[in-house]
Amino acid sequence: MPDYETVEHDVLIIGSGGAGLRAAIEASAAGVSVGMVSKCLLGKAHTVMAEGGIAAALANVDDRDNWKVHFADTMRGGQYVNNWRMAELHAKEAPDRVRELEAWGAVFDRTPDGRILQRNFGGHKYPRLAHVGDRTGLELIRTLQDRGVHRGIDVHMEVCVIELLQDGGRVIGAFGYDRERGKFRIFHAKAVVLATGGVGKAYKITSNSWDCTGDGHALAYHAGAALIDMEYLQFHPTGMVWPPSVCGMLVTEGVRGEGGILTNKDGKRFMFDHIPDNYKAQTADNEEEGWRYTQGDKKARRPPDLLTRDHIARCIVREIKEGRGSPHGGVFLDISWIKQRISNAEEHIRRKLPSMYHQFKQLGDVDITREAMEVGPTTHYIMGGVKVDADTEMSTMPGLFAAGECAAGINGANRLGGNSLSDIIVFGKRAGEFAAKFAKGNKAGQINAAQVEEAAQRALEPFSRNVTAGAGFEGPYQVQFDLQEMMQNLVGIVRREDEILRALDGLQRLNARAQRVGVTGHRQFNPGWHTALDLRSLLTVSEAIARAALERKESRGAQFRDDFPNKDTALGRESVVIRKGANGSMQVNREPLPEMPEHLKQVIDEMK
Ligand code: FUM
Repeated sequence: MPDYETVEHDVLIIGSGGAGLRAAIEASAAGVSVGMVSKCLLGKAHTVMAEGGIAAALANVDDRDNWKVHFADTMRGGQYVNNWRMAELHAKEAPDRVRELEAWGAVFDRTPDGRILQRNFGGHKYPRLAHVGDRTGLELIRTLQDRGVHRGIDVHMEVCVIELLQDGGRVIGAFGYDRERGKFRIFHAKAVVLATGGVGKAYKITSNSWDCTGDGHALAYHAGAALIDMEYLQFHPTGMVWPPSVCGMLVTEGVRGEGGILTNKDGKRFMFDHIPDNYKAQTADNEEEGWRYTQGDKKARRPPDLLTRDHIARCIVREIKEGRGSPHGGVFLDISWIKQRISNAEEHIRRKLPSMYHQFKQLGDVDITREAMEVGPTTHYIMGGVKVDADTEMSTMPGLFAAGECAAGINGANRLGGNSLSDIIVFGKRAGEFAAKFAKGNKAGQINAAQVEEAAQRALEPFSRNVTAGAGFEGPYQVQFDLQEMMQNLVGIVRREDEILRALDGLQRLNARAQRVGVTGHRQFNPGWHTALDLRSLLTVSEAIARAALERKESRGAQFRDDFPNKDTALGRESVVIRKGANGSMQVNREPLPEMPEHLKQVIDEMK
């Protein structure tokens, strides 16, 4: 056995965002020993960036809300290719998970009579997002972290996992390196939960943090687990477009939930011209009604600025392409206009949207209480990920579980805003519970020294390539930059077969270059080395996205194919599944979606 530090846990959680923390709390409550590996410092995972709120049918603001409406909204938003069982569990369990956060000390905004306040968000029929100003993710992490640390979870901070360890077709641990000292570490566990978040760093313009490099997706794939729905990548309609250094940074949908409006350079509210037929009945066709909706008038219909993200992002791209964009290549998002309607508008905006106020003031010198923001689409969230069992979150590999953004199913072709914070607490809890159960029922596996050694050698190879000697090697940053540029341009919001094929060609070349990247210096906190190691995940998820996008010859939700602009009913009954083939190449298959049971079909019919 190689001489690396080895730690033993019953359940190992990889990822320290909301899903990982919630899984850790649940597993620990089941009485097993829990270790959590975090690529970043504890408390800095990307969940802290979540702004607008947690979707849960608490019915505190509109008593017509209930799990059935939430379920139907989620399925419609996902264009009915969601895993219906996950959507059902999520809608039913989210309210309890939110109340549990409150009991654990989360401080929510309140209704006048003291209940958790809920705000409007795109695609949700009623005000449904429990929130803390526009810093909901921060409060969620703070609460779960307090709870988790007091339960005695072992946290391995600034450790990056590069390989899942296996024994007899089962996942039995992980192998990684400590970023600070550069030392390898073996994690020996009876069950492993992936909770690593998203893939946004495969793109040039993204709201995602530096660590969203698709590690969990790639680890699962290389271990032999199936990925599904990788073609569905969400572009949030509103990211900052200026200044360039913060391009892509999230501008919460909460701005529109509070009455913000999208306009083009002519001051026109272009969304009124683009209301899809299936949303016409429930969408306001005039400004007055849209405003009343945002102010809680139960008889009013939602403004078109609160349609689903996939649709709004495409409408914004059209405005920009047709020359009606803002000076820095976006459109305008204006919340300051509400001073025409309410007397204390400036104070109201600063109280409800404090982060947005500071973000624009400090980074862009824009006072959003007085001027419009400039915004444009930003790569935000991947609906695709590890295929899991809806009830237990176990992947197709025994002993390997996944929850949160790196797992797939609940969101179908497009996620509704706010459904990710509820997803991570609902399915994080379930993953922790069932991973603990699995750990109790299974002995620890045998670590394969050859697998560990091979991963260690692969990780150290970049040090053996001398980039300064002009021997045909290059540093990792240029490869990462070229990948991001290419994915942004060729597998973005609007896709075409010829462009995706060019991307696949490009990926082959980038993979070859990644095999030859070299780094200088030593193993102690070496960002060049870390980037070189991230390339494997970034390239794997990029190829999965491109191959799945090519396979789905239709437009549905976040997958918009210019060459197949319509939905195809037959394809709507299938999911695209990605697996690693025996020869190591990526295999793409289509598999039928399970038939929805009658009682859930009835719910959807009732809600229509
Ligand atoms: O717009 C937002 O605040 C994002 C929320 C989400 O993606 O769920």
